[in-house]
Amino acid sequence: MPADAKSPKKLSSNRAALTHKIGYAFRHPGRVTPYVRRAGRDAWLRLKHPDHIGYYRAVMASDTRRDPEAAVGSRSHDRWLALGRMQFDYLVEHGLRPEHRMLDIGCGNLRGGWRFIGHLDAGNYYGIDISPDILIAAKETLAERGLQDKLPHLTITGDLTLDFLPDDHFDVIHAHSVFSHSPLHVIDECLGHVGRVLAPTGFFDFTFDRTEGAEHQVLREDFYYRTETLLALARGHGLHASFMEDWEERPHGQSKIRVSRSPLPATA
Ligand SMILES: C[S@@+](CC[C@H](N)C(=O)[O-])C[C@H]1O[C@@H](n2cnc3c(N)ncnc32)[C@H](O)[C@@H]1O
Repeated sequence: MPADAKSPKKLSSNRAALTHKIGYAFRHPGRVTPYVRRAGRDAWLRLKHPDHIGYYRAVMASDTRRDPEAAVGSRSHDRWLALGRMQFDYLVEHGLRPEHRMLDIGCGNLRGGWRFIGHLDAGNYYGIDISPDILIAAKETLAERGLQDKLPHLTITGDLTLDFLPDDHFDVIHAHSVFSHSPLHVIDECLGHVGRVLAPTGFFDFTFDRTEGAEHQVLREDFYYRTETLLALARGHGLHASFMEDWEERPHGQSKIRVSRSPLPATA
């Protein structure tokens, strides 16, 4: 992720606008053919799967077939390792302890998950994802890392109602690079139900692609939201919500919001 990923220019650009696309094509001619190929594939998948979850599951199936690490957004194994470490270090710095119970929403192939599983006591990691293909890759990561004894839960889901999970259970809930691929109704569903499964003193951190201009999406794969939109959505469900300023210092293109049932001490 380039260090200027959150530059004022990037934060205000509308990637869905034709002028942006033309300018981008001139600046990066080598990326035009892959983009056109991807747009064609996505149009076909949208036709076959009109609902977002079905569509995105099909995108993940196609991407995972090619390369599971690229499917979760890492262009190299080193980046896959670094992105997982960034998630892990942040939560440990924010107090994640072995006895905590953690829910990882959209756990992918355990880019961060394998580190969380290693850190937490056996049975305390719960990963969910909409993609069976990436969960198979997750099990491969688990075996490669020798983490079988930690007995993590890895579960497929079709929505984010979290109805199969118990009340007041998780100390930390985490969704990294998931809402950046989610339309607002999916985020709203999650925020409408996450409070029930959060422990009273727990928190839910999620990243999102932030824009300070018009909210927009690209190929129904990447969604850009204003911070106020997501804070208001969370507060509308009776949750406390704050923008995590200290995450902005990390070399990552997305921003982070923390929500909780009770007010949390200031962290920055
Ligand atoms: C970019 S990957 C990130 C994976 C992991 N969080 C990480 O940081 O490596 C996004 C993951 O979220 C999953 N996903 C997307 N929408 C989801 C949803 N509504 N519910 C659960 N998982 C979802 C995708 O299948 C994919 O595995």
